[in-house]
Amino acid sequence: MNTFGGDEVGAVVIDVGTHTIKAGFAGEENPKAIIPSVIGTVFDSDDKSKISSYYVGNKEISFARPGMEVQNIFNSDTGEIQNIDYFEKALNYIYDERLGVKPNEHPLLMSEDPLCSSSGREKLASLVFEKCNIPSFFLSKQPVLSCFANGKYTALVVDSGHNATTVTSVHDGLALRQSTIKTTKVCGKVLDEDLRNLVKTKRGGKDILAPHQFTKQRSSQQPSSKSTKIVEHHIDGLTQSFNDYSINRIVGDMKINLLRASEDGAVQTGNTPLVSFELNDGNDIEIGLERFSICERLFNHEYGLAKLTCDSINKCDVDLRKELYSNILLVGGNTLIPGVPTRYEHELIRMAPNNVKVKHPLNTKISANIHTLSTSMGNSSTQSTMQTAVAQLQERKYASFIGGSILASLGSFQSMWISKSEFDEMGAAQCLAKKCP
Ligand SMILES: Nc1ncnc2c1ncn2[C@@H]1O[C@H](COP(=O)(O)OP(=O)(O)OP(=O)(O)O)[C@@H](O)[C@H]1O
Ligand SMILES: [Mg+2]
Repeated sequence: MNTFGGDEVGAVVIDVGTHTIKAGFAGEENPKAIIPSVIGTVFDSDDKSKISSYYVGNKEISFARPGMEVQNIFNSDTGEIQNIDYFEKALNYIYDERLGVKPNEHPLLMSEDPLCSSSGREKLASLVFEKCNIPSFFLSKQPVLSCFANGKYTALVVDSGHNATTVTSVHDGLALRQSTIKTTKVCGKVLDEDLRNLVKTKRGGKDILAPHQFTKQRSSQQPSSKSTKIVEHHIDGLTQSFNDYSINRIVGDMKINLLRASEDGAVQTGNTPLVSFELNDGNDIEIGLERFSICERLFNHEYGLAKLTCDSINKCDVDLRKELYSNILLVGGNTLIPGVPTRYEHELIRMAPNNVKVKHPLNTKISANIHTLSTSMGNSSTQSTMQTAVAQLQERKYASFIGGSILASLGSFQSMWISKSEFDEMGAAQCLAKKCP
């Protein structure tokens, strides 16, 4: 704990992601604030180059405001902060509105993408020290934090989020950059796109309606819900980015309710039961086989989760591979789709080196499945044990936040913070390279 004015104050922990930013206090099990990673901007009506208002947070972003553009704070290819001013607005909102504390009174631990650029992290350090007046700061790679959340220093971390899946080998608490593989082909966003397209096709080309695009009128003669009439309307000046954002939120909810992964890879053809889903405009759609087939891309043999796991492990030193195969962490919101961990295991065993035996089941806390594999990857030809550990749902969803929360509350960590005076003396580049490699 750092001490300010005689009081012990806990650190703030912020885990960044392209879908949501998770923020809270060190020592807590879950983030206190989960905010969408977007910002709404409205330009000045006289000077179109000047932003007159910013909107952050679920409620503010959901309100239909003419002229409001909705943009992601993070770059869709790299996941890095795209616009540091927007990120500053998000930080202000988190501190003022959601955590209710002052930035200058708490150390800040932030997560970062394992492939982040030096220039991006230097900009961030300058922002937090110079503009937000954070007293001390630390940046930690997301897969390393996921390891800490699971009590590990060495593991292979498969993080499947909204915009990308990133697979990283972590050894002795360090993320191995050369082993890191990132793809945007497998992520929550592409499943959302597939589902939105499917619904559109089933509705004869008509997109899902966002809440601001219609009202429901009840017939006075027939008061049952089926007699409700949908009246579509158009609000002048709403932007395409706002419409898309609003629709994608609905699609995201549908995905959570509908999508399932086939556990053994046998996506049945004829007899998958149809499930009816009521859209917010009251219309039902039925979906059967597609509930499973949409998820098949997660297990694509060229770029799916299991393939990336093997590829990442193969980029590591031969002596480390066996240990990585026996310490696999599957994290990120996209892995919460029912059936994903079991299927992942199934595919991994198929692809991993020779004769793997599996002991079920999955999905229990850090409980492992023991496989025996005849290894040809290391220097041994004998049977060795492979374990894969899959954390519980909540732990999978907030793994990096939880790891950050644990790390920042460890007594032994307190000397690791970059202080403002160190930042002033050494400059961003040097102190980050030294303290947050
Ligand atoms: N229960 C669930 N079932 C299916 N998908 C879910 C579930 N919960 C969250 N998701 C999806 O997981 C994704 C968000 O995951 P996560 O919070 O790990 O992403 P992120 O860290 O913000 O993004 P990234 O790591 O790609 O930058 C979204 O696509 C969301 O719809
Ligand atoms: Mg993430």
